[in-house]
Amino acid sequence: MMQSNSMQLLDKWKSAKDGLIHAPRPPLAGKHTGTFAFYTIRDRIPVILTKVINDVNQALFKLPADAPPATAEEGKAVIERLAALRYQMQRDHPMRPLEDSLPDAPVWNEFLATYWPNAGHFQAAWLAQECYVYRRIREALALSPAWADYDPFRLDKAISLEKSIPVLTLLSAHVDGLVQHAAADAADEHARATALGELIMFSLWGNAVDLSLLAGSHSLDTAALGDKMIREAAAGVVVNDLDRVVRALLALRGGRVDFVLDNAGFELTADLLLAEWLVAAGLASHVVFHVKAFPWFVSDTTTADFAETLDTLAPHLPSRVAHWRALLSEGKWRTHVDPFWTLPHAYYHLPSFPVADELRMADFVIFKGDLNYRKLVFDCAWDVTTPFNEAIGPLAVPGVLPPFVSLRTCKSDVCVGLTAETAAALEGVKDWMVSGKHAVISFKE
Ligand code: F6P
Ligand code: MG
Repeated sequence: MMQSNSMQLLDKWKSAKDGLIHAPRPPLAGKHTGTFAFYTIRDRIPVILTKVINDVNQALFKLPADAPPATAEEGKAVIERLAALRYQMQRDHPMRPLEDSLPDAPVWNEFLATYWPNAGHFQAAWLAQECYVYRRIREALALSPAWADYDPFRLDKAISLEKSIPVLTLLSAHVDGLVQHAAADAADEHARATALGELIMFSLWGNAVDLSLLAGSHSLDTAALGDKMIREAAAGVVVNDLDRVVRALLALRGGRVDFVLDNAGFELTADLLLAEWLVAAGLASHVVFHVKAFPWFVSDTTTADFAETLDTLAPHLPSRVAHWRALLSEGKWRTHVDPFWTLPHAYYHLPSFPVADELRMADFVIFKGDLNYRKLVFDCAWDVTTPFNEAIGPLAVPGVLPPFVSLRTCKSDVCVGLTAETAAALEGVKDWMVSGKHAVISFKE
C-alpha cells in the first residue's frame, strides 16, 4: 500500500475536533499519583539521569592529559544540561522545544507543539515524556561536539552482558541441538514447531532484562532468568498466541523476517538465536534487525551495541559468532536504522512515516519489548480485556503491515487481550502489570 493510501486510512483515527491522532483512551501520565508512570517520573528517571551525570563525570576524570581543553569544558556543559533537565522534570516544568540541530529535531518540535504545547513532564502523556527525556539526553551531548557520539549507557550495557555470559553459553549449547535439526527435521513439523516455540519463548523472556527497570544497579540474576526461560517459559504468559505465531512462521518459505529490536546484550542474543534458527530452517532467507539511532531507554540496541554484543560473545561462542558474522557479510542478515524508532509517536502514526514502506517488505515482523508494546497500543487506559486488534487501531487494517507479533514482558500499566478469566485471576496479583514476571505474545494476522 502506498503512503498516500496509508494517510487516508489514518483519517478514521483522527479526532473530528482537531484532525489529530490522539490516544483513544486517556493516556497514561505522571499526573495520576500512585501509578507506575508517576513513580517512574518522580523516582526512576531522576536516578537514571543521576547515573548519566556520574558516568559523564567519570569519563571527564579519565580524559587523557593531552586531551584538548575544550573536551573537558564541553563535558562540564553536558553535565550542567543534564542537571537542568533533572531539575525541570522534577518541578514539572514545560517540555521545551529541542535546541540542537540534529535532523530529527524539527519532527520532535512539531510533535511537541502540536500535541503537548507547554505541557509539564507530569502533565503530558508518559509515553511522550519518557521518550523526550532520552532525546534531551541526546541533546545535552550533541550540543557539545566533543561528546556528540558519547553513549552514557555503554558501561551499563557492557557490565550486564558480561554477567549474562554463563547463562548465554548454556543457552547457546542448548540451541545447537535445535539448529542442527532445523533443516533435517523439515519433514517433522511437530519437531520444528516445538523448537520454534522454544526459541520464541527465549526471545520473549530475554526481554525481562531491561536496564532501565534496574535504574542502574547490577543485581539482575540472569542465571535464574535462564532457568525460567528453559523450564517455565509458558507460566506467566497472560496472553498467549504462540501457536498461531508458530503456524504463521512455519508457513514462510524463505521469506523476510524483521525484528524491531529492544535491548542489547542478553535479549539481543536470544533474538539472534531465534533469527539463526529461522534461517537454518529455511523459513527466512533474510532477517532485518531494526536498531535505534542513538542511546535509548538505557539498554536499547544501537548499531554500535549490535557489533559490541558480537565482539563480547566472540571469545565465548566462537563458531556461533563467526556464523552470525558470515550471515551479515552475505547480506542474509542486516541492521537497519530509522529515526522513527526514537520519536515519541505511538505506532498509530507509523503508516504515515517512510519506515512503514520498509516494514511492508517483510513477510513477518517481530516487535520486541515493553516500549514497542506501549507504542503499538498507544499507552493508554485500555480495559485489559480489549482485543489486541482493537487496541492497535490502524495497524489492524489489512495491508498496513505484514503479520506481526509483540513479544513483551509486562513492565508498564497497560495490557490488553486478556480473557475475562485471566483478568479475574490476575486481579489479586500485586503489581502483575509492571513486575516483569508476566508477559504477552500478541499476534496480528
Ligand atoms: O521506564 C518505563 C519503561 O518504558 C517500562 O515500560 C519498561 O520498563 C522500560 O521502560 C522499557 O522496557 P523495554 O526495554 O522492554 O522496552
Ligand atoms: Mg528497552
